[in-house]
Amino acid sequence: MDAHSDFAEAVQKGLQSSPKHLPSRFFYDAKGDALFVRIMHLPEYYLSRSEMDVFVHQSKAIVAEFGKGEAFDVVELGAGDGTKTRHLLEAALAHSKDWSYVPIDISAHALQDLKDRLREELPHLKVHTMASEYQEALNAMKTLPRPRKRLFLFLGSNLGNMGWQASLDFLSSIRKLMQKGDGLLLGLDLVKDPNTIKAAYSDAAGVTRAFNLNLLHRINRELGGDFDVNAFDHVAYYEPVAQEARSFLVSTKDQEVHIESLGLRVSFTAWEALQTEISRKYSPSDLKYMQEHLGLDKRACYYDCRHWFVDVLWTL
Ligand code: AVJ
Repeated sequence: MDAHSDFAEAVQKGLQSSPKHLPSRFFYDAKGDALFVRIMHLPEYYLSRSEMDVFVHQSKAIVAEFGKGEAFDVVELGAGDGTKTRHLLEAALAHSKDWSYVPIDISAHALQDLKDRLREELPHLKVHTMASEYQEALNAMKTLPRPRKRLFLFLGSNLGNMGWQASLDFLSSIRKLMQKGDGLLLGLDLVKDPNTIKAAYSDAAGVTRAFNLNLLHRINRELGGDFDVNAFDHVAYYEPVAQEARSFLVSTKDQEVHIESLGLRVSFTAWEALQTEISRKYSPSDLKYMQEHLGLDKRACYYDCRHWFVDVLWTL
């Protein structure tokens, strides 16, 4: 299925559901990518800086703990702009040049940028990009040669967007690819003061608001929608029992929206919410549960200085 019809189908289905919802993976068109880069620099959005702190200070330790002196291939799911990973790649190159980095991302454009940048910054690194959905890439990897052990990376608390069961299924599909000696380095945002989390998803400058509203602009642009974007507001809160930051677009009045290419009319009542994103946060017992569920061994946990974020290393 091409990207456009995937989006069309999700919009068709999500706007006719009750409650209405749209999957957060559609945030990331060219505008959304640029807005997310701005989010990463916001004072309230601590996630990227926290994980960066882990990679800046502990990449050597991670490479030493996983590699034990052996070279290994690095497979990254959702590589994005790869700034964090660069520190890890650099640390691994200090030991050996005989291995490769396999970044996987849906955005072929982002991957090309990453490849160009790495060619300049780490000219000795062998890079094999895979532009596809995670599941497709994981399937394709089954048939690739496997000259060395592999370290799988899934960073940035991207797992948190999936919902609990879907996240376990996704991790299981990585686990099925793993062979003896392979590892998984998983970046997760930890439970913390609910006010800190809430602020990260409703920043004062309104960048997250623009990021969320871009979904409606995207429907207007790509599917011929006539959303009056000014008649929707960004709302985000943190639910500490479910450990979920939840984001919505709320209709500020009764209104009807027409989406031409879907032949769809949708009505919103005043203050009706359209759910757009869940960002789950993780507790120590969640980590233990996931690790045991996957049947992997815990090797190490790497925290930022405030213990707000963790990169766990599990191996088979
Ligand atoms: C990229 C999925 C980790 O959920 O924190 C940032 C996306 N959404 N601000 C997150 C996001 C609103 C982000 N992830």
